[in-house]
Amino acid sequence: MQHLMGKTAVVTGAASGLGLAMAGAFCREGMRVVLADLPSPALTEAAHSLSDKGFAVLGVAVDVADAASVDALARRSIEHFGRVDVLCNNAGIAGDLPRESWEHDLANWRRVLDVNLMGVIHGIHSFIPLMLGQPDGHVINTASMGGLVALPYLAPYAASKAALIALSESLELELNALGANISVSVLCPGMVQTGLTRPGMDHSVCTAAPPSAPAQEFYQGTQKSAVQATVSADDVARKAIEGMRNGQFFILSHGGTLATAQKRWQRLQGNFTLQQEPQA
Ligand SMILES: NC(=O)c1ccc[n+]([C@@H]2O[C@H](COP(=O)([O-])OP(=O)(O)OC[C@H]3O[C@@H](n4cnc5c(N)ncnc54)[C@H](O)[C@@H]3O)[C@@H](O)[C@H]2O)c1
Repeated sequence: MQHLMGKTAVVTGAASGLGLAMAGAFCREGMRVVLADLPSPALTEAAHSLSDKGFAVLGVAVDVADAASVDALARRSIEHFGRVDVLCNNAGIAGDLPRESWEHDLANWRRVLDVNLMGVIHGIHSFIPLMLGQPDGHVINTASMGGLVALPYLAPYAASKAALIALSESLELELNALGANISVSVLCPGMVQTGLTRPGMDHSVCTAAPPSAPAQEFYQGTQKSAVQATVSADDVARKAIEGMRNGQFFILSHGGTLATAQKRWQRLQGNFTLQQEPQA
């Protein structure tokens, strides 16, 4: 989608991190923006701070894990702005502390899949039928580099993000087959400092058992990488808009992602042995 001025974007997870950065970037492109997130002072503050700058925004409380709540978001967006041209299914959580796949509590598996995967499915289910009636549109699903590469100890997160890549590919093929003028991108950021990667990140479903020594070592490594991250949320938002304008399906924000992701294809070809990467 080339022309953004005057169009409407809905961004989930817009109260913080990448969602907030994308909402701000869309506003600066002249778009009208629905900021959707769990009800919180951060959501109210984000919407106020953008509207105080003269941007046309609407803050809407939503739980993307709840289909009825996402349906209500779609209705509210249309009532307020009349149309939705860009849908950013961005809300996501990391889940419990890193631990082995079998050690993750089933409640943690469910919560991560409910927010990260079902949340995007709800977005597609509620918004695509509305967008099909419009001249054009674009969907950006925020996956992760973690959906492109082998990621130990965060299996619920990695599985949800890999599923988003498959879901986005299916969606794109289906829209193309219909001749719909709706393009699709899957945003695969590497490590960025946000609420998700901050020490003490959102472990909304924590089990009592301490992680194993290798899982703890991995966690310390990721925390160190998060602190040292040089790519900012604003950088990712810029890449997302550039990728959307260029009609890119995969939008990568970090230079090293491609080389790391290639290991999966080398392994498919049978000439690469998977080993755990040392943490930075
Ligand atoms: N930060 C990174 O390094 C990184 C890397 C790759 C992918 N991502 C992805 O980027 C997206 C945004 O994350 P972030 O890094 O900006 O983290 P963040 O924690 O700063 O922002 C996530 C936002 O999603 C909201 N949210 C969580 N559950 C929700 C729900 N059920 N309904 C509605 N909103 C909900 C949170 O309230 C929060 O405002 C996520 O999908 C995440 O997986 C982040």
